[in-house]
Order: sequence, then C-alpha cells, then structure tokens
Amino acid sequence: MIISGSVQEVRELIGNWKKRGFSVGLVPTMGYLHPGHMSLIERARKENDMVVVSIFVNPIQFGPNEDLDKYPRDMAHDREVCEKAGAELIFAPQPSEMYPSDNFAFVDIKELGDGLCGAKRPGHFRGVCTVVSKLFNIVLPNRAYFGEKDAQQLAIIRRMVRDLNFGTEIVSCPIVREPDGLAMSSRNLYLSPEERKAALSISRSLGEAKELMRKGEKDAVKIRDIITAGISAEPLAKIDYAEIVDSSDLRPVQRIEKPVLAAVAVYIGKTRLIDNFTFEGAAK
Ligand code: PAF
Repeated sequence: MIISGSVQEVRELIGNWKKRGFSVGLVPTMGYLHPGHMSLIERARKENDMVVVSIFVNPIQFGPNEDLDKYPRDMAHDREVCEKAGAELIFAPQPSEMYPSDNFAFVDIKELGDGLCGAKRPGHFRGVCTVVSKLFNIVLPNRAYFGEKDAQQLAIIRRMVRDLNFGTEIVSCPIVREPDGLAMSSRNLYLSPEERKAALSISRSLGEAKELMRKGEKDAVKIRDIITAGISAEPLAKIDYAEIVDSSDLRPVQRIEKPVLAAVAVYIGKTRLIDNFTFEGAAK
C-alpha cells in the first residue's frame, strides 16, 4: 500500500492505473477510522480494481468554535485499517497541499445545505463540497463511497455530482452501529462512560419513532415529538435539532406520505452527535 501527500504523485499513480484500464473507488475520510469507515473501504474493495482512501481533516468545513484542533488523529492506526481492508493507496495531504494561500475557488450549494446541520454550521457544506470536488478532480474515481450517517452530506454530494456533471457514481453504505445501537463516529471517543450511556437515548428514540411509522403513524409532528421527548428525558442530552424531512429535498414535512428522513443532532455534554433513519413507507 502506498501513502502519499502529494497531489501530483497521486495523479501520476492513478493516471497509470487508468491507462491500464483499472477502475478506481475512492473513500473520502477525515481519518481516525472505525468499523463504519472499514465497511466503506470493504465495499469499495469489492466493486473496484483499485481503492484509494483519502485521510484529510478538512479545515474549511469546521466553524471557528468547532473541534478542528482536537479532532482525533491516528495515522498509524488508520494505515493498519486501510491495509487490512485492502486499499492500494492512502492520500493524506497537508492542508497547504489542498489549500495554497492563494486558493480562491470554492464549491457551494443552495437549499439542501440550509437546514438541519447546515442551519447551525454555516459554511460547513461549502467546505465539504469544495474538498469533495477537489478529491474527485485529483483521484477521478469511478465510484465514491459515503456513509448514510451523514445523511444531509450524502444528499448534498449526490446533488452536487448531478448539478456539476461529475462522472463519479456515489455509493451509500448503511450506518454501522455498536452492539447497543450507538451509531459509530470518530467523535464517540470524546464521551465519558456516563455520556456514552446517555448517548443511547438517541438510537433508542429513533428506533421507537421508526416502529410507530411502521405501524402506520403519518403525523410527522407527533413522530418528532416522540423523538424529542425520548432524548430530552436524558439529563445529559441537549437536542440541537430533530426533524422529519422529505428525503429528496430535505424540506420539513407535516405528513409522512413520501420517503422521509428522520434526522437528529444532539449534544451529549460537549460532544455533538448525529443519527438518522430513512423511512420508505409502511408495509402494505
Ligand atoms: O464525512 C466526512 O468524513 C467528511 O465530511 C468528508 C466527506 C471526508 C469531507 O471532508
């Protein structure tokens, strides 16, 4: 497995693969890889000749009061995970390689980035769209793999790829959970044992809401209230948002008549966690 931080070197390597007719799968990450990332790399491994994992804590998607400096990093561990999952290349650039001081071009998206996480994290999705566009232009992947835990990010990247005519197929992979239901996240590391227990209120409440939808409940406000009440009953949890939105345009819905996304962001102590589920419709 090769590790490179150089855009030019990566372009040359991948150019050679492409000349030989190899397909390329890209798994964009910010490192500190957990089994959720591993599932993306393994899927990419199955579907492509060559697998590239990018590891880059993208400074421009963090707000001024967010956790950029303390975002966990462990290259030795990440290297092991990538090697085990069968990646050919890790692209791990320095910020100066991705953003020279005279970088003036950015990629932004309207509407889809305004609600949910975008409402509380201005500039976040501009940062994500910019770095993902850059990675797509450097790696020219046939397919790129994203987790469904970041549901808004996934919807935005799909739309960006459609609107800007990128030639990359976006593949989404299901949320990977701990045995007790907590969605895997690099940020789970910040939780104390007490907070870790409190965080279970998130997946538990979402599970109850999903069950109600399955039984035929169509009132989105009622469903949202159930999620909110379940999480708020936990003293260490503070809801940032809990929303039921149309899964294609991410606009809030009153009635559950089309596929919807139930999405939450919750502070457990100082740690902000997100989780969600998509509901396609009650069984007929
Ligand atoms: O989901 C993430 O880890 C990041 O937002 C991504 C897609 C790697 C862009 O920095």
